[in-house]
Parts: sequence; C-alpha cells; structure tokens
Amino acid sequence: MATDDEIKRVVDSTDIVELVSEYVSLEKRGKNYVGLCPFHSENTPSFSVNPEKNIAHCFSCKEGGGPIQFLMKIKNIGFGEALNTLALRNGIKLSGNNKIEKVDPYKKHKELLNLSMDFYKKVLNNTEFGEEAKNYLFKRGITEELLETFNIGLSPKDYDTLYKVLKDSGYLELDMLDCGLVDKSENNTYHDLFIKRIMFPIFNEQGEVIGYSARIFNSTDKNQPKYINTRETILYHKREVLYNIHLAKSEIRKKNRVILHEGQMDVIASYKSGLKEAVCTMGTALTIQAANILKKYTSNVIICYDADKAGINASLKAINVFKQAGFNIHLVLLPNKLDPDEYVLKYGSEQYLKYFEENIIDEYSYIFKQALINYDLNDAVGIKEAKEVIFDSLINSNSKIIEEKYLNLFAGTIKISFDSLNNDYIEYKRNKINTDFISSDDYLNTEPIEIKDNTSRAQIRLFMYAKSSKEKAFYIDNMIEKYFDALSVENRNLWISLINDYYSNNEYFSEELFIKNLDEEKRAYYFKILDILRKNPDKYDDEDLEQCIEKIHLEHIDAQRNKLTKDILKTDDVNNQAKLIALKFENRKKKESLKRRDK
Ligand code: CTP
Ligand code: MN
Repeated sequence: MATDDEIKRVVDSTDIVELVSEYVSLEKRGKNYVGLCPFHSENTPSFSVNPEKNIAHCFSCKEGGGPIQFLMKIKNIGFGEALNTLALRNGIKLSGNNKIEKVDPYKKHKELLNLSMDFYKKVLNNTEFGEEAKNYLFKRGITEELLETFNIGLSPKDYDTLYKVLKDSGYLELDMLDCGLVDKSENNTYHDLFIKRIMFPIFNEQGEVIGYSARIFNSTDKNQPKYINTRETILYHKREVLYNIHLAKSEIRKKNRVILHEGQMDVIASYKSGLKEAVCTMGTALTIQAANILKKYTSNVIICYDADKAGINASLKAINVFKQAGFNIHLVLLPNKLDPDEYVLKYGSEQYLKYFEENIIDEYSYIFKQALINYDLNDAVGIKEAKEVIFDSLINSNSKIIEEKYLNLFAGTIKISFDSLNNDYIEYKRNKINTDFISSDDYLNTEPIEIKDNTSRAQIRLFMYAKSSKEKAFYIDNMIEKYFDALSVENRNLWISLINDYYSNNEYFSEELFIKNLDEEKRAYYFKILDILRKNPDKYDDEDLEQCIEKIHLEHIDAQRNKLTKDILKTDDVNNQAKLIALKFENRKKKESLKRRDK
C-alpha cells in the first residue's frame, strides 16, 4: 500500500482546477471556479472548485471531494486506481504492492485498431495506388502535414489484405469482427470491410482510434456510397462520435467555443485555416449525447453546416439539441450554398477565416437570412413557407424585441405593412401554441423540470384544459372551487385572471389577448408554466382532466389535514381537540377512498 505521506503528495501535486476542467467547463468566480455539476443534471452551475483547499464539490447534490474522490466518482473507479492515475500523472512513485494496473477490457481491440491505422497509412504512403489517392487529396487541398496530423490512410484494392496482416500479427478473428474491420462470408472466409477508400480514422476523446470514415475517390461505380463509416461496435458509438474531438478539445477550452461542421473535410479545412476548435458528427444528426460531450469543454457553439437546404435543415435540428444541452448558439452561413471545404478551396484559408469571424450570427438572424435565400419570395407559396420558418423561430424566442425586429425586416423585404404581417403572426402563434402542447417531439429528450412542492403538475395542466374553451374553463372552475386553497399562490392568481378577467369578457381564448392583460409577474409565471408543459409533452384528454381534478382534491385534503394537525398542537381545549381529531380521521378516510379509485 501507498503510505499516507505518498497519498498526500499525490493530492498536493494535483491541481484540482486542471483536473476538473477535463470534465467540466469551469468559469472563474471570485477565488473559486464554478460549472455545471457532472454528477447530476442541472441548468445553473452549483459545482464549485476551490483551488486553495484543493477540493471540488456540488452545493446541490453534495457530491465531490479532493482530487482522488473526484476522479473516483467521475470515472467510476476505485481509490487505488484513482490514486495510481494521479501519481502517474505527477510522476510520483508509489511504494508497496499497489500495482493496481488498470485492466482495459478493450486493450486488444485498441491495439488492433492502431495496427490497422498504421497499415492504412503505409498503403497511402508507400504504394503506387497510394500515389493516386494522394494526388486526389492534394487536389482537395490536403497537404502532407495534414495527412500526418489526421493520420489519413488508404485501404488497398485487394479484399483481404488487412485481414491477413492482422491475422499474421496474432489477432483473433473475433476481435477483428468486434472492431468492425472485417466481415465473415458465408463460406467462413474473412474479408476486409474497407476496400479502395481513403481512410479517415476516428478517435475518441482520449485519442484512441475507434473506427473509420472511408471515402471513395476513384470509382466510376455510381451505386457506391461516397462514405462508409464503421458500424456500431463495442468501441464505436455512432451517437457519441465527434470527429477530431481529441485534437480540438484543448483549443475548444482555450477559445471557449466549439465549431460544429457536417463532414470531416470541413473540419480539416477549418483546421488548416486556424480554426482548430472544429469537430463534426459526420453526416448524422447531432445527438444530445454528442452535445453533452461538447458541454464538458464549453457552452458556446458555432454551427457551420453546408449552406444548402439539407445543411440548413440539419442546422435547425442541431439548434434544438444544443438548446436542450444549454448552449449559447451561433451560426455561420457560408455564401453560394458552399460547404467550408469548398469555400476554402475556392477562396483560400485567409478569406475563409475572415468571412467566418465576421459572419457569426445568432439563430434568428440565421433563420431569417436562410429563408431569404431558400424561398422564392415572388411566389405566394414561397412567401408562406419562408414566413412560417421565421414565425416558428420567433415564437421560440419569447422576446418581443426579437419578434418586432424580424417581423419588421420581413415585412420590409416582402413589401407589406408591419401591421398585416403582425396580425398573421399573432394568428399563427395562437394556433401554434394551442397545438404545441399536444405533441412536441423535439423536447422528448428534455429532463423534467422540477416543479415547486406547492405547485403540482396537475395544477398547471388545468390551464391547458381551460384554454381549450370557455365552457371547459367554467366546468373546471366549478369543480375546483372547493379545493381552491390547495392551489399555489401563483396558480390561484393566474386562475383568477383567466376566469374572472379574461373569460368574463371574451368568448374564445386568445393567447395574445390573455398575455396582454397580465401584469409582469403573472406573465413571467405564465411563460414559465408554458415552458414546463412544452418540455414535458403528455397526452391531454378528458380522463386526464378528471385525474388532475382529483389530484387537486387530494392536495386539498392534505392541506386540511396539515392545518388540523397544527391546530391540535396549539389548542388545549379538550372539546376542540376531539372535534379536530374526528375531522382528521374523516379526511383520512376520504383520501383513502380517493386513492383507491385512482387505482
Ligand atoms: N457521409 C456519410 N455517408 C455518406 C455521405 C456522407 O457518412 N454516404 C458523412 C461523411 O462523414 C461526410 C459528411 O457526411 O463527411 C458530409 O457529407 P456531404 O455533405 O455529402 O459531404 P461532402 O462535402 O459532399 O463530402 P466531400 O467533401 O468529402 O466531398
Ligand atoms: Mn465537401
């Protein structure tokens, strides 16, 4: 065992800020650093790192401790392994038999993948076929230096060269299959999965090869896909893959921003232009998992996808995912439907860098710009489509300023009055908000928002039902009248506004009108519950409404019981006590019968 003194030395020589930074994006606040807690899900940072005391800990979930405890928890490893890791890092020799060497179950696979990478590089650099591939790459602006940086290789023409190399090196077929490098034919022979393709190795965050993206370059066969990527394997998890993350991570931290592209050629183009904080998901939609990986390094993202229609649609989806992950989002829209790699080839790195830095825009501006490019605004259908894309983004902005700014811009562009466009918008928004609650797939990944104890989900769902018609609103009002004290203060006030102020003057519900007459506090609260409900999509039907009402009945009984209990403790009048106890029992019975019905 390591001595206490050794353990202390390991702890003292580890910089907790540096260590935590590898997993959490930290911001300096006073003497300390804060970030989003890696141990529980949260939107406001409660994870605090104190360099003076050399500890990190979460004020919310209480997890944390010194460097060793932090590492144990975050990597889910034991004390010995954490101690060893940190000792190794700081060059501290530990005495005794603490050779708790980390057993990596995928050690063989990683070796094998590494070997394949070396092999593919040799094919590129030492064969005639490699010359051909290199010429293609050079034409696309990739230099010798970039080939080395990105470890680019080439898979040979024969169908089983890699298989033989790996076999000769003593590796098992099973492991080769597991890595997605070879496949087994029906006659039980093995063949390579990648043939005649430029090989882009894909690394994990630690810089270990986990798979490939392989591009065709000299085939006349039109049926062949342009890229083939490694299938899902024990090491390659498509949903988590971020090309270039291992090289980009330190730069992302340094610049406190990450650039997200669509393909690896774009990442390489950015890299050679000096934007080394670029990564890509390789043609697949961004997942929440990938966004969360990036979130460890920064909260600022710049999406720069292809400027064609597909790229723009993918950008809109990525915006939603990044929102869920809590990013500040910006975008760059390249001119003439170019992708970054085409832009660099056409105009050069210098101009690309300049264009990029000067054209970082927010999502509203991006959506507006792309709508003008992609829809024919001389055509009624085009106007309608562009209008809806813009309206959708404005509804999500929750900001009057943003709304007015872009409505004005768009009205000017299509040469109509602000008022008529605004009327359209109000109408559109009303329909949208009313249907949005029924289903909203985009938000399915969102974790439920915590609702304060005194305001249950049932209470706020009542508003959604009440919005559907005046009749329903009055029905609900009638039903909950007796339980009204169970509602939280905010809900009570908002309910009164809805029934007494709004519906007594209006026959139908209009979001815009309702919001208009709320004071600031109520409006903020109303937006909050809209947001909560939108992020927790659920079914709305009559059965559920009845359950909501019952739930509030239960809450009411609970509240009464609590009050009675308190009163009993306060009073010393025997008669009164008996009365209260009787009431308490009655309430309990009522509650039990309600619960039974619930089942
Ligand atoms: N991709 C893929 N499978 C395909 C096509 C593309 O996996 N059949 C991935 C690749 O990782 C590629 C990315 O999607 O880098 C972007 O594809 P695309 O927009 O088609 O890239 P291009 O710019 O056309 O590709 P390149 O620059 O290599 O010509
Ligand atoms: Mn391209």
